[in-house]
Amino acid sequence: MSKSLETAGLKVLETKVYKNPSDQDIKALGQVLREGGLVAIPTETVYGLAANGLDAEAMGRIYEAKGRPSDNPLILHLASKDQVAPLVIQVPPLAQKLMDIFWPGPLTITLPKSDFVPDRATGGLDRVALRCPDHDLARAIIRAAGVPLAAPSANLSGRPSPTSGQAVLHDMDGRIEALVDAGPCSIGVESTVVEVHDNQLIILRPGGVTESMLKEVTPHVVYDKHLLGAKEAPKAPGMKYKHYAPDADMTTYVGSDQDIVRAMVTKINNILEKTRQDRALSLGLLIREDLLEAIQEGLKGDGEGLDHAEYSPHEDEGIDLEIIPLTYKDPVDLAHTLYQDLLDFNEAGVDYILAQGLVEEGLGLAIMNRMNKASAGRIIKL
Ligand code: TXA
Ligand code: MG
Repeated sequence: MSKSLETAGLKVLETKVYKNPSDQDIKALGQVLREGGLVAIPTETVYGLAANGLDAEAMGRIYEAKGRPSDNPLILHLASKDQVAPLVIQVPPLAQKLMDIFWPGPLTITLPKSDFVPDRATGGLDRVALRCPDHDLARAIIRAAGVPLAAPSANLSGRPSPTSGQAVLHDMDGRIEALVDAGPCSIGVESTVVEVHDNQLIILRPGGVTESMLKEVTPHVVYDKHLLGAKEAPKAPGMKYKHYAPDADMTTYVGSDQDIVRAMVTKINNILEKTRQDRALSLGLLIREDLLEAIQEGLKGDGEGLDHAEYSPHEDEGIDLEIIPLTYKDPVDLAHTLYQDLLDFNEAGVDYILAQGLVEEGLGLAIMNRMNKASAGRIIKL
């Protein structure tokens, strides 16, 4: 790791890990941030890679550490609503209402920025994205820093976002001054990003705050055309980049339970047919837990084995196929575990990933937005 960092022209740092930071530690972390350092912090959505949001140089380091395209703007994280005023030209009543209702929480609001916000934070756009995370430790660190903290997800650009301290270290060890590890994130997918005008709201990135929740505040809610399948450039620049990509080719299936089982069994058999007999094959299965058995039955005709971590249905035919099943209970559980599952499949070195997707409504919309990207668009609607 350090060698590749040096090759990339980055200084190798000693990344300090805090598990239960004391008040003293939080004060020290605040100072590291204020003075231009990078600290990965927990939030309720995913871990953020934080830097001083008023310091262009510090934010430049975020882009270097992540290998992130520099036109992709950052979200400024605030400890409370009181920090908003100096950062924007004005706060429309609709924005105020959204902050009152959803903050702290997974809703990011873009508003016309004031001169106080460096262009580095907004990638040159005239709007700044603001969010107040629903995580006590995150807000304590922002307060200790005394400045808004710019924080994208703390992964290398393109990879799944980290939802645990361990996943942050995997990508960021040696690239950042410190990590605050507070265990797994409670939600697991990033915030909803909305652009707010006087009386209209445009959803730029779907997340945990859903369309119907927003419609309780205002009837004027629309999706950015890009999210509806139009060819137009997305208004959130980050939405155009490769994202959440696992190492293996992933295909996501959506449909009735019966169709999913049939399609996955057929796909696995097709893969096996195409595979030379002397080659070992490993396949990741991401599926609702109650469908696992039916898949196994479809493959082998009996009901044993798949609740074990590994399973080799075709061993007796001389083909070395290993299936690694990771299961979820419901959409909330999938949101919570999706990124970690993708990282676990990377770790296992699987050749293919077959995943069961969700109906695109409510939280399902946010999850499918991520699964679509992770699958490089290979969504099969049955
Ligand atoms: O839940 C989250 O939002 C996490 C945690 C760490 O807070 N952060 C996060 O940041 O997901 P990031 O940088 O990975 O994604 C920010 C998204 C990108 O798609 C970016 O293009 C969009 O927000 N964005 C930021 N500022 C914007 C602006 N001024 N106008 C439009 N889109 C903006
Ligand atoms: Mg991200």
